Amino acid sequence: MRAFILGVIVTLVVLVLIGLGIALLGFAPSSADAVPPAFEARIANAALDASMERRAPRVNNPLPPTDDNLIDGIKLYTMNCALCHGGLDKKESVVGRSFYPRAPQLIREPLDDPEWHINYAIRTGVRYTGMPAWQKILSEQDIWKITAFLSRVQKLPPGAQDYWKKSFGVEPPAAEGGREHEHHHD
Ligand code: HEC
Repeated sequence: MRAFILGVIVTLVVLVLIGLGIALLGFAPSSADAVPPAFEARIANAALDASMERRAPRVNNPLPPTDDNLIDGIKLYTMNCALCHGGLDKKESVVGRSFYPRAPQLIREPLDDPEWHINYAIRTGVRYTGMPAWQKILSEQDIWKITAFLSRVQKLPPGAQDYWKKSFGVEPPAAEGGREHEHHHD
């Protein structure tokens, strides 16, 4: 029995050393210029969702989804997030597509997560990606305004849709009747 346990431990130590060796001898790629393979994306996304599910407090948005709050959300998103996540002109962000993993295009492929989830992702960021933790950069109130907007990209009230149309020269998604793109991570 002791020999068996010793064998298991030695095997594990050897595997860890091989993994470290592969990484430290430079065999792991460092470039962000690649698309994550499907199995890697699936495991990483599942782990990310599970982590947020476990940690994020179930809080409601303290701000009502009025035109004013949503238009503020659009402005804050445009200034801070569109560079990576794509603007309201609905063009894809080449910057966002150049990260590993890629930044999801939140206007072209809107989120379907609850507001507590979106808010937690914005406040605390995502480790080992290009997604910063915004809680020391933006006020709590501003983060809730962006959260309100991102959870309603396809169902904005008429006032906010007018603002979108006037400022960005394209029809907001709600006016086109339904989803253009299925939401997916890659
Ligand atoms: C410098 C680029 C960059 C900026 C700026 C940026 N993000 Fe991100 N963001 C990313 C990347 C990269 C990911 C992908 C992380 C992943 O795949 O796990 C991400 C992921 C996310 C997610 C998804 C998390 C999930 O649950 O899958 C949300 C929501 C998000 N960002 C919102 C925002 C908001 C809102 C802003 C502006 C306040 C912002 N981001 C600014 C790069 C950025």
